[in-house]
Amino acid sequence: MAGFFISFEGPDGAGKTTVIEALIKKLATVTDREVVETREPGGSEIAEEIRQLILDPKHTEMDDWTEALLYAASRRQHLIEVIEPALTANKIVMCDRYVDSSIAYQGGGRELGMDKVRQLNDFAIQGELPQLTLYLDVPVEVGLQRVKKLGAGFDRLEGQALAFHQRVRESYLKLVEQNENRIQLVDATQPVEVVVAKCFAKIQQLVK
Ligand SMILES: Nc1ncnc2c1ncn2[C@@H]1O[C@H](COP(=O)(O)OP(=O)(O)OP(=O)(O)O)[C@@H](O)[C@H]1O
Ligand SMILES: [Mg+2]
Repeated sequence: MAGFFISFEGPDGAGKTTVIEALIKKLATVTDREVVETREPGGSEIAEEIRQLILDPKHTEMDDWTEALLYAASRRQHLIEVIEPALTANKIVMCDRYVDSSIAYQGGGRELGMDKVRQLNDFAIQGELPQLTLYLDVPVEVGLQRVKKLGAGFDRLEGQALAFHQRVRESYLKLVEQNENRIQLVDATQPVEVVVAKCFAKIQQLVK
């Protein structure tokens, strides 16, 4: 693959979407390569339909592993239809969440086991990992507070939900330790401009 595959990870409200938007503007000033901004299910119709199946509120009986399998299936379709063609065409792919989200949220958050969810996803992505993953780290309370300011209901998150988010963050921190060459931690409690500058420096090292 001739392009660059970069993913962004972090707890809810860490600033992924904000940072990606800013980085795309900055990248345009240093490279002629086309930059593709995507997030799962990323405009793939099949991936979107699988996603709808997962999110449909009437599917209260969905088993956790069924959910994990469907996420992996949706991810694969997005990879085949959107990410791989962009990489083949020399583009820079900036993906808002990828495989590490499943490992952190379902492996850790839902307690299916990080290794098991990784194995499941290995099957789906066949080794197609990002060259660089920027993990935006914030304490759970900070991220949720930011999301709350956006109007989403932090009030509806009871103690159990907070424990879920704590497990997600702890899982991400384990992933950083286990993948020190791929995953770079950026302290996302800093002002947006600082976070963007740190991410940009790491991307420049890769893309130069
Ligand atoms: N470094 C920062 N300092 C203060 N506020 C920030 C910072 N980064 C982002 N925000 C604000 O926090 C809110 C959430 O940011 P954003 O939507 O980018 O997070 P996200 O990681 O994409 O969240 P989600 O996982 O829910 O998609 C926004 O209002 C954004 O302006
Ligand atoms: Mg977002």
